[in-house]
Amino acid sequence: MTKRIILNGTSYHGKGSINEIISEIKMRGFKKAFVASDPDLVKFNVTSKVTDLLDKENFPYELYSDIKPNPTIENVQNGVKAFKNSGADFIIAIGGGSSMDTSKAIGIIITNPEFEDVRSLEGLSPTKNPCVPIIAVPTTAGTAAEVTINYVITDVDKERKFVCVDPHDMPIVAIVDSNMMSSMPKGLTAATGMDALTHAIEGYTTRDAWEMTDMFHIEAIRLIGKHLRGAVENTPEGREGMALAQYIAGMGFSNVGLGIDHSMAHTLSAHYDTPHGVACAMFLPIVMEFNRDYTGERYKDIAIALGVEGVDKMTQEEYRDAAIKAVEKLSADVGIPKTNEKIKEEDLDQLATDALNDACYPGNPREATKEQVIEMFRKLMA
Ligand SMILES: NC(=O)c1ccc[n+]([C@@H]2O[C@H](COP(=O)([O-])OP(=O)(O)OC[C@H]3O[C@@H](n4cnc5c(N)ncnc54)[C@H](O)[C@@H]3O)[C@@H](O)[C@H]2O)c1
Ligand SMILES: [Fe+2]
Repeated sequence: MTKRIILNGTSYHGKGSINEIISEIKMRGFKKAFVASDPDLVKFNVTSKVTDLLDKENFPYELYSDIKPNPTIENVQNGVKAFKNSGADFIIAIGGGSSMDTSKAIGIIITNPEFEDVRSLEGLSPTKNPCVPIIAVPTTAGTAAEVTINYVITDVDKERKFVCVDPHDMPIVAIVDSNMMSSMPKGLTAATGMDALTHAIEGYTTRDAWEMTDMFHIEAIRLIGKHLRGAVENTPEGREGMALAQYIAGMGFSNVGLGIDHSMAHTLSAHYDTPHGVACAMFLPIVMEFNRDYTGERYKDIAIALGVEGVDKMTQEEYRDAAIKAVEKLSADVGIPKTNEKIKEEDLDQLATDALNDACYPGNPREATKEQVIEMFRKLMA
C-alpha cells in the first residue's frame, strides 16, 4: 500500500526563533504581510511580538483580527474581503489553531475563488492551486496547525464544525517559538496540551497508523508526559518541551488521521462552543476505554511512554488499564474538568448523529453504533 507524508518546507524551533521571520520574509521577496491574529492576542501584546519586528524593519503589513475561537465561516469570508483590500502577498498567521485555520481558509479561497462559500471545502477539498503563502507562528502548544494539512471551521447556522483536508493549505514556514506561548494562562496551557496528547494517542491507534507516524506519535506522547505539568507551571523547560511535542504530534496525525474523540469534540464545540482542547481531553479516557480491545499492544507503548513503571510484567488488561489511568491522572493534575453541564438529554441523538458524520470518525479503530456514541456523550453529563 502506498503511504504519503506531507510536512511543511521550513520550520524553526526553540526559544527566540521568531527573530528568523525577517530573514525568511526577505529571502522570499515578499512585499506586504496580511497578519491574521485574534483580538485577545492583540490585546495581550502577543501579536506585537511579531509586528514589532516588522515595524523595526519598516516592513508593511495589514492586521486582521476578526477571528474567534472555533472560527466561523463569517470570520473566513470577512478575512477574504480584508485580504483582497490589503494588497498583501502573503499571510503571517499568529495564534492558536483558530488564527492558523482561518488563515488557511482565507489563503485557499484567495487562490481558489470558486470555494468562496467555504462550506464546499469540507472533507478532501478538491482545490487546484496552493494557497497564498503562509508563515505560521503558533501561540498555543496544541493544534500543530502549522504543520498539518487540515483546518476546522464552524458553520454557525448548521451548528456544526467541519474539517477540511487539503495539502494546498500547508504553511510554507512554521516558527515554533516557546516565547510566543509563555503568556498562556494555566487552563489554556492544559487544554491545548491535552489536545496534543489526544492527537498523539488517536494518531497512534488510528486505522492507518504505520511505522513513520508511530515514530512521531510515541515521541510526542513521551514528551507530553514529561513536560505538560511543567508547561502549566510556566517553566521554560516545560514550555519548550510542549512546543516541540505538539509539533511532532502534528507531523504524525496530519498524515494518518485521528478518531472518534475528535469527532465528538468537534460536535461538542459546534453545539456549545466548548474550547477544542477541553473537549478532546474530557473524551480521551472515555474513548481509550471504548477502543481498548481494538488496539493490540499499543496501550503498552503508550503506558511506557507516559512513564508507567513495571509495564513489562503486566498482562494485557493491566497495561491497558495503566495507560488509561496515566491519561486520567495527567488530565486531573492539569485541572481538566470531567463534566460539561451544557449537554442536555434531548440533544444526545443529534450529537451522536453529527459525531458519526465527522471526517475524523472513519479513522477510529473501532466502529461505533449511535447508541454507543450517545453513551459516551452521556458520560460527560453532570
Ligand atoms: N488544523 C488542525 O490540524 C487543527 C488541529 C486541532 C485543532 N484545530 C482547531 O484549532 C482550534 C483551537 O485552537 P487552539 O486550541 O490553539 O486555541 P484558539 O486559537 O482557539 O485560542 C483560544 C484562546 O486562547 C488565546 N490565546 C492563544 N494563545 C495565547 C497566548 N500565547 N497567550 C494568551 N492567550 C492566548 C486566544 O486569544 C483565544 O482567546 C479549534 O477550532 C480546533 O478545531 C485545528
Ligand atoms: Fe485537536
